[in-house]
Amino acid sequence: MIGLMNIDHINKNVEIGITMGEKQFAGKGLAKDAMISAIRFMFEQQNMHQVYLTTLQNNHTAIKLFESVGFQNIAILPERVFCNNEYTGMLYMSIKKSDFRL
Ligand SMILES: CC(C)(COP(=O)(O)OP(=O)(O)OC[C@H]1O[C@@H](n2cnc3c(N)ncnc32)[C@H](O)[C@@H]1OP(=O)(O)O)[C@@H](O)C(=O)NCCC(=O)NCCS
Repeated sequence: MIGLMNIDHINKNVEIGITMGEKQFAGKGLAKDAMISAIRFMFEQQNMHQVYLTTLQNNHTAIKLFESVGFQNIAILPERVFCNNEYTGMLYMSIKKSDFRL
């Protein structure tokens, strides 16, 4: 499931989130294809300037996926989420239209 949220038509930015619901389909490139299609749609059809997201700082699988489509690390929001009995930071990542190459 992929979601586009907080669509800001004034500042032309939008938040994206993704989850692979069916484990049997994970690791086959489907999430990456969906990310590319959604980002392309927002830049080319909706004329957005920037797509952004947040993810847990230790979510290495997701971070690798986001970096592979061009997202850059912008900031760490420290100790933002209480998870597995400890605080974990959130990573804020974004990609600008001018940097999208796929
Ligand atoms: C993040 C998530 C969507 C990736 O789904 P997926 O189907 O495994 O992703 P894909 O098969 O499209 O892989 C795309 C890229 O992700 C990375 N990746 C995928 N599985 C990985 C793994 N097990 N280890 C490391 N990197 C991995 C790779 O960079 C891969 O690209 P590459 O194969 O060209 O190197 C999935 O793991 C998920 O739903 N996680 C739980 C929810 C979540 O964390 N959402 C993101 C937070 S907003």
